[in-house]
Amino acid sequence: MKIFIKTYGCQMNERDSEALGAMLCRNGHTLTDVEKDADVLLFNTCSVRDAAERKAKGKIGFMRKLKKQKPEIIIGVLGCMAQRLGDELLAELPHLDFVLGTGQIHRVPEMIENIQKTRCRVSETEFFPDEIEMLGAHGEASWSGQIAITRGCNRFCSYCIVPYVRGREVSRSRESILAEARAMVDAGVREILLLGQNVAAYGLNGDIRPPADDHSPFAELLEELNEIPGLLRIRYTSPYVSYFNKRLISALANCSKVCHNIHLPLQSGSDRILKAMNRQYTAAGYLEKVAELRQAIPDLTFSTDVIVGFPGETEEDFNMTRQLMNEVGFEQAFIFKYSPRPGAKSAEIADTVSEEVKLERNNILLDDLKARISGKLQTLSGSVVEVLVEGVSSRNQERWTGRTGTNFVVHFEPDDDCVPGTLRKVEVSRSGAVSVSGKLLPLD
Ligand code: SAH
Ligand code: SF4
Ligand code: F3S
Repeated sequence: MKIFIKTYGCQMNERDSEALGAMLCRNGHTLTDVEKDADVLLFNTCSVRDAAERKAKGKIGFMRKLKKQKPEIIIGVLGCMAQRLGDELLAELPHLDFVLGTGQIHRVPEMIENIQKTRCRVSETEFFPDEIEMLGAHGEASWSGQIAITRGCNRFCSYCIVPYVRGREVSRSRESILAEARAMVDAGVREILLLGQNVAAYGLNGDIRPPADDHSPFAELLEELNEIPGLLRIRYTSPYVSYFNKRLISALANCSKVCHNIHLPLQSGSDRILKAMNRQYTAAGYLEKVAELRQAIPDLTFSTDVIVGFPGETEEDFNMTRQLMNEVGFEQAFIFKYSPRPGAKSAEIADTVSEEVKLERNNILLDDLKARISGKLQTLSGSVVEVLVEGVSSRNQERWTGRTGTNFVVHFEPDDDCVPGTLRKVEVSRSGAVSVSGKLLPLD
């Protein structure tokens, strides 16, 4: 059968969809990007903010027309919204055939077969402990690949739905991650992105207390990955600031393949709000870690996530966030307007900041960010940077794109030696709002 998969949400979901696609292909199905050609339409959804759910529901609702024209098609909803709403989704969307929660995604092929036979409508959202085993599947090899090293989350930040829809934190065994990484590199992968809600807690058995300064299973994992011949770059997302102990910082500084860029979610710069968010650090603690990391790795760049308009956030709290962001000088940031999630702790308190004020705060931070990014990009002009070649630029077919280890996007005209997944040098000559461009230097 022809299967269409649409993914919403984070890289974890992207990863799950890729594994699912590979699994379905192994079962004799084919994938299609064209909705109206599909026999089965799957929507892998996100619940992190209300807007994410509305977006997916809107799209799925739109499929009603298709189902009317072709009643034999099968429509399934997977992922975090499926986990959160279960049966409710079947009631709300009468043209849906099945809903499978996050612990059941490996059961999609079986579900398709059953529905073909019985045409029953099904919703299953129980967690299965063996879910972790399906993570090894990959789609077509490319120069980059992703490996989920942990699943779930034990941190329970008060605003966040993830622990409820993804379950408790589980780490995969080091052996299986290394075997997967080696197989990926053998298939042509040159950059590996390690994924988890809290990657730096890898191997700590779900204990949320940051470990002693000399203990970091995540550091040990990075060191082993760093030894894989043929692998050029290692990235990871997202770590939680409190886990950057001495052991991990020294591993980051010593592993030559680990990229000098950290996505380090801040959420707020006000200690009062951080506490209400159940984030276990203070603004000063966050700054201290950033300083320690920069001292060990001077060209390190940082990106972050920030929430504006958390219940009770005053102008003063917001200004602390703004100031802290400027102090760190993030090279990239994702700003989110607080969205109460039914089931998460903070949804029990009133959503006090108006939509208008949230938007205003959001825009102030975005403007700061824009100015800062273009300033940082300007400083690259005239320098020679090393990029991992990614391929033809999506905006201009005559140019190619690469990325520095510090995560800056670089455009250049290709030469005959230009191959995706290879490291090349570019002399930067121009900087724009979000990227730079320059001249590709010949291979030595
Ligand atoms: N595990 C990651 C975050 C996953 S969710 C981490 O802690 O690093 C991605 C981002 O969505 C969060 O960092 C947070 O900034 C944002 N987010 C989560 N819940 C939210 C909510 N209820 N409203 C607005 N933004 C939210
Ligand atoms: Fe959510 Fe916090 Fe876990 Fe990140 S660490 S997934 S924000 S509960
Ligand atoms: Fe969304 Fe689920 Fe990821 S809620 S952010 S898709 S873990």
